Amino acid sequence: MTLSSSGTVWNFAAGPSRLPDAVLARAGDVLFRRGADGAAVIERPFTGNAVRAVLESARERLTQLLDIPANYHVLFLAGGAMHQFSAVPMNLIDPASGLRTAAYADSGYWSRRAMREAARFAEVSVVARHDGSQALAAPAEDNWRLPQGCAYCHITANETVDGLAYPAWPNTGDVPLVADTTSSFLSAPLDIARFGLVYASAQKNIGPSGMTVVIVREDLLRRPAQSAPSPLCYRLQAEQDGCLNTPPVMAIHLAALVFQWIAESGGLSAMAEANRRKAELLYRAIDGSDGFYTAPVIAAHRSITNVRFHLADVSLTERFLSDAEKAGLIHLRGHRHVGGLRASLYNAMPLAGVTALVNFMAEFKRCKG
Ligand SMILES: Cc1ncc(COP(=O)(O)O)c(C=O)c1O
Repeated sequence: MTLSSSGTVWNFAAGPSRLPDAVLARAGDVLFRRGADGAAVIERPFTGNAVRAVLESARERLTQLLDIPANYHVLFLAGGAMHQFSAVPMNLIDPASGLRTAAYADSGYWSRRAMREAARFAEVSVVARHDGSQALAAPAEDNWRLPQGCAYCHITANETVDGLAYPAWPNTGDVPLVADTTSSFLSAPLDIARFGLVYASAQKNIGPSGMTVVIVREDLLRRPAQSAPSPLCYRLQAEQDGCLNTPPVMAIHLAALVFQWIAESGGLSAMAEANRRKAELLYRAIDGSDGFYTAPVIAAHRSITNVRFHLADVSLTERFLSDAEKAGLIHLRGHRHVGGLRASLYNAMPLAGVTALVNFMAEFKRCKG
C-alpha cells in the first residue's frame, strides 16, 4: 500500500501529548535564557518576584479562560492527578461533622482507580455505574441516590482509557461535585460553579507533566483535612498561594504559555468547535467504514478528546499500527487494559493531523478490507 511521504509526524498519544507548535517555539527562550540578573526563570528562588509573577500570570490567564468565580482558589500543585485521588478524600472527609462517605460514579478505568485510592481514607459508596447490558456509555446522570453523610461526589469527566465522556453533569444538590477533568480540561468551556472541586494533571491540554491544577471552592477549605500531609492540604496551599513547598515552576510557566495560546486562538469556545470538528471527522470515518472499523461507545457519550476504536478483524491491529507509524501517525495503540486503537485529539492536534489519519484509515481499508 502507498503510504504518505509528507514527512510530517502526528502524535496521537494520550499523554504526555503534543504541545502547540507556537508554545514549543517560545518555551526555550522564555524558560532557559538568563536575564540581566544572571538567572533564568527556572534558576530563581520561588519566593522571589520573578517566579511569583509567573504564578500570577498563569493564574490570571486560567481564571480568564474559564471565567472562574471569585470564591474559588486556583492551585498549581506538584504531582499528578493520582496525587489528587488521595488528596480529595483526605481534604474533604470530615468524620467529626458526620461527613464520612465519599460517593463515586464508576464510569471506567480512571474512576475505578480513583475510588480504590479513596477507599484507603473514606467509606466509598458507588452511586452510579454503567449498565453493562448496553454499549459502552457513562452512567446516566439522573437519579443518583447519594448516601447519608456524603462528603462529596466524584466523577471522571472524561475516561481517557475507555474513550467516553459525560454528555451532562449530574445534579448532586448540596453535595459538592468533584471532577477529575484530566483529559478534557480546556477542551471546551466548563462551568466551574457546578463543581466544588475540579482537578486536572497537566500532560494533556495544559503542558508538560509534573503539575496538577486544582480549582477548589472556598467553603471546602474549611474542612479540617487532618490526615492530609501539608503539601496536599488545599487550605495550607491556598493560604500560601500554592507555594507551601517549591512549585513546579517550569511546568507552570509552560502552562501560562499554553493558556495564552488558547486565548490568542479564540478561547475555549474556539477550542470546543475545533475539537468537535476533529472528532466528528474521525467518528464519521469509523462509522462509515461498513464495519471495518468500530467504535465501542454509544454516540452521545463518545469522548471528543480520546477516540477509541477497533478493527473488526483484530488480527490486523498490529499491521495497522506499524503501517500507521511508517505513515507518520504515531501512538495509536489503545490502552493495555482495553486493547484496540485510540487517537487522542487534544487542543494542539490540528485538523490536518486527523485528516492524515482518516486518509490513512481509508487507504488501509482499501488494501485490507
Ligand atoms: C482521567 C485521568 N485521571 C488520572 C490520570 C492519572 O494522572 P497522573 O499520571 O498525572 O497521575 C490520568 C492519566 O492519564 C487520566 O487520564
